[in-house]
Amino acid sequence: MKKIFLTLVLSITGYWTFAQNQVIINGDLGKTTINKHIYGHFAEHLGRCVYGGFYVGENNTKIPNKNGVRTDVIEALKKMKIPNLRWPGGCFADTYHWKDGIGPKKQRPSMVNAWWGGVTEDNSFGTHDFLDMCEQLGTEPYLAGNVGSGTVKELSDWVQYVNHEGVSPMANLRKENGRDKPWNVHFWGVGNEAWGCGGNMKAEYYANIYRQYATFMSDWSNTSKLFRIASGANSADFNWTEILMRDIPHNMLDGLALHHYSVIDWNKKGPAVNYDEDLYFKTMKQALLMDELIHKHATIMDKYDPKKKVALVVDEWGGWYEVEPGTNPGFLYQQNTMRDAMIAGTTLNIFHKYSDRVRMANLAQTINVLQAVILTNEEKMLLTPTYHVLEMYNVHQDATMLPVDVQTADYTFGNEKLPALSVSASRDKNGVTHISLVNIDPSKSQEISLNLRGMKASGVTGRILTSAKVQDHNTFESPDKVKPAAFKGASIKGDNLKVTLPPISVVVLELK
Ligand code: AHR
Repeated sequence: MKKIFLTLVLSITGYWTFAQNQVIINGDLGKTTINKHIYGHFAEHLGRCVYGGFYVGENNTKIPNKNGVRTDVIEALKKMKIPNLRWPGGCFADTYHWKDGIGPKKQRPSMVNAWWGGVTEDNSFGTHDFLDMCEQLGTEPYLAGNVGSGTVKELSDWVQYVNHEGVSPMANLRKENGRDKPWNVHFWGVGNEAWGCGGNMKAEYYANIYRQYATFMSDWSNTSKLFRIASGANSADFNWTEILMRDIPHNMLDGLALHHYSVIDWNKKGPAVNYDEDLYFKTMKQALLMDELIHKHATIMDKYDPKKKVALVVDEWGGWYEVEPGTNPGFLYQQNTMRDAMIAGTTLNIFHKYSDRVRMANLAQTINVLQAVILTNEEKMLLTPTYHVLEMYNVHQDATMLPVDVQTADYTFGNEKLPALSVSASRDKNGVTHISLVNIDPSKSQEISLNLRGMKASGVTGRILTSAKVQDHNTFESPDKVKPAAFKGASIKGDNLKVTLPPISVVVLELK
């Protein structure tokens, strides 16, 4: 009787429903900046990412383009605010010889894309094409150098070709090819996945190779201030991080990479659309593992670099499933559902949490490959649920991260559970606070009580991305099935904000 009475009182007062999800936004404790470069993207010569995705050729009269690059793609990426773009790989980078991709297009030699489908490429999209496209996009290029099958000279020549202002053999060649001013590329990857497709090296061996390459990129003391990024660990390979942090002098190292994909089983990845709740739960478990991975890699980095000079660069992340039925298995073309929106929202919240160390990241990959933000089919283009999350979240770029304490309900499936709620917050340079919330539970909504400690707000507005089923996605026939809408589920009284999040939803709030 007593228990029934208590339950009644608690539900009438609202306490019961809000008790499970309690969040404190520490508005007075913001110290670190959420580097906009954690919102970076990745364009590999893989399937239809570059050819058919970004680039359709200068002579294409069917698809509007500028210098062969799709105009619709440029507009969409600019709206999303893309801060940097990694190119040309991936595994492809360690097979790529940049000199094959400059000069008159008709004279460029062809090559075989050995990693991705064995297709022959004509090198019509090369260094000028990529760097000019970055200028169109207003994004910073991130070039991945060939260490696996290239030479030190080849990479140091590339640096000279794109960055040297004065008279030099490579600057002269660039000018002959029509570009007078250097592009001043800041971000440089020294190889990719050196432990695997980049050469199957041991950590100690790669650390030495890295030192050699880094020495000859620009000059001995890196006067051009390149941001050099070492090929980093695969998911939980903590030994790789340990050895590289120990063996590479930190004045030669600006970033250390990490790759982690939300993949269930490399031999049985499961479908991109027709998955059941078991597969959904397993994918989210892999996505949320990012928190523990970053924590552990960052702890190792702290041991060698307590001042956090070296950035952790998560330059490949996202969901990886079976390719769409009937498509080339080497092209990694997959659909993108609300599951991907859940991966994107929770992962970005994790990056925000570690913004003191994670200062750059690249979602794999931008168009038609893996967790793409854009899919194309000839002249048609669609924006995926992942695109919408990145566009909604762009208010956090270069804002001050506000630490959050989150007490969350569980999302339970079988005997396992995951935190249902993921939250992050920031204050932008105009003093406006944004809060991002994700509910990964596919059947339960979440009532959340947020304490805005140290802040005063008189109103709240927001946007939501949600859909009836987690498998929902956009198609070329129905490109707007999943898209953001105005959010009406938040109310504010003093420093207390109450929010109701529907199942599988991403919400970004703005405090007034
Ligand atoms: O993104 C696809 C591939 O995944 C990349 O080429 C490689 O770096 C990683 O293994």
